[in-house]
Amino acid sequence: MAACMLVAVTTISPAHRRLPRWSELGPLLRPKPIELHGDRRRAAAAASVHDLRAIAQRRVPRAVFDYVDGGAESELSLRAARSVLEGARFAPRTLRDVSQPDPSTEILGMRSPIPVVFAPTGFTRMMHSSGELAVARAAGSAGITYALSTMGTTSLEDIAAEIPGCRRWFQLYIWRDRARSLDLIQRAEAAGYDALILTVDTAVPGARLRDVRNGMTIPPAIGLRTVVDGARHPHWWFDLLTTPPLSFASLAQWQGTVAELAATLFDPALSLDDLAWLRDQWAGKLIVKGITSLQDATDCVDVGVDAVVISNHGGRQLDRSPTPLDVLPRFVEALGDQTEIMVDGSFMSGSDVVVALCLGATAVLVGRAYLYGLMAAGEAGVRRTSELLATETVRTMQLLGAPTIKDLSPELVRGLGDPREELR
Ligand SMILES: Cc1cc2nc3c(=O)[nH]c(=O)nc-3n(C[C@H](O)[C@H](O)[C@H](O)COP(=O)(O)O)c2cc1C
Repeated sequence: MAACMLVAVTTISPAHRRLPRWSELGPLLRPKPIELHGDRRRAAAAASVHDLRAIAQRRVPRAVFDYVDGGAESELSLRAARSVLEGARFAPRTLRDVSQPDPSTEILGMRSPIPVVFAPTGFTRMMHSSGELAVARAAGSAGITYALSTMGTTSLEDIAAEIPGCRRWFQLYIWRDRARSLDLIQRAEAAGYDALILTVDTAVPGARLRDVRNGMTIPPAIGLRTVVDGARHPHWWFDLLTTPPLSFASLAQWQGTVAELAATLFDPALSLDDLAWLRDQWAGKLIVKGITSLQDATDCVDVGVDAVVISNHGGRQLDRSPTPLDVLPRFVEALGDQTEIMVDGSFMSGSDVVVALCLGATAVLVGRAYLYGLMAAGEAGVRRTSELLATETVRTMQLLGAPTIKDLSPELVRGLGDPREELR
């Protein structure tokens, strides 16, 4: 035994050591400048949108994080969207010149630097007091289209004034009271919104059980739990309590609760006739969001819409609904030459975006991805989200051997396609 050890020790030749020279140490000692601005520091530390999500989880009260992060009922739709995306595999090409990658694309007749749109999300000032204005500024400076929600906590006029030259869409719920809808449509037109995006998957509000379990209310109410939480997230509570109260800013006359508003806003009687009515009222581009049935999409095209967004509301409405990415190829095959087809649901990276583009989507809408950024680091966090999505999209295209969006094709993706889809 002792002999073996002796052999082992004597066969390892000792490293030849010497003192390092100063000239060699110099280049290694490059301390990074310390970023004193907390939001910018946190944003820069995130190497992915998943990192921003992890930071967000620490920064805001659990009820707020869960409101964004969660889905309806058992969250089957939510999990399925991620798992379908994660199942996708690329089939890359090499020996292609990808030295000049160009991720820009045309969305409804206008150039966009990347094939991404910021989806409409309600109550955004609850995630961070800078809310929709921060999202709009970050989107505007990246050249990304921002779709403001009817349920926004900043008015459509204020957003228009903040980013006057930038591309903006307004998301509409058709109210039971059509006169109110008309008022919003006219205001959106007057404020220079390029497109209306009508959401149709909200016959009634979905059941978000995390919100129920967390006792979530909008605006957040002060109770015993809140006081305890305040100690853990003092900056968030300070921000909330020292900025103007949360309100549905585009619906200035609204006095009721959120539940009452939802009951008034979401019209379970909404039908194709209402869509035809809206088409007559709005001369600009019209998009319908919240479709997963090819027949519904065909009906929308017949009414004259310019684009459809295949979406199940990020898994927040009907649980067990079709996964948008699963049905995308059939939509593209049937309607791709008649309308623009966009998609959303759980897109977290440029690589995710490229998968959808390969399958024929014109663009991808992201909701949570920028909200994680907003909760993690305010405007700097949203900027980080768009920066990450852009660099990841470019890198993926280069590694895939596809220098432009036109080079992305279904042959570059494997691992998708539920055979049962064929039966529908
Ligand atoms: C917190 C939150 C609020 C939302 N609010 C709205 C809304 O007011 N109107 C709407 O049409 N869609 C709304 N959505 C759905 C998004 O527009 C989009 O369909 C969905 O977020 C896409 O999934 P992703 O968040 O995983 O990207 C909301 C989504 C989230 C996460």
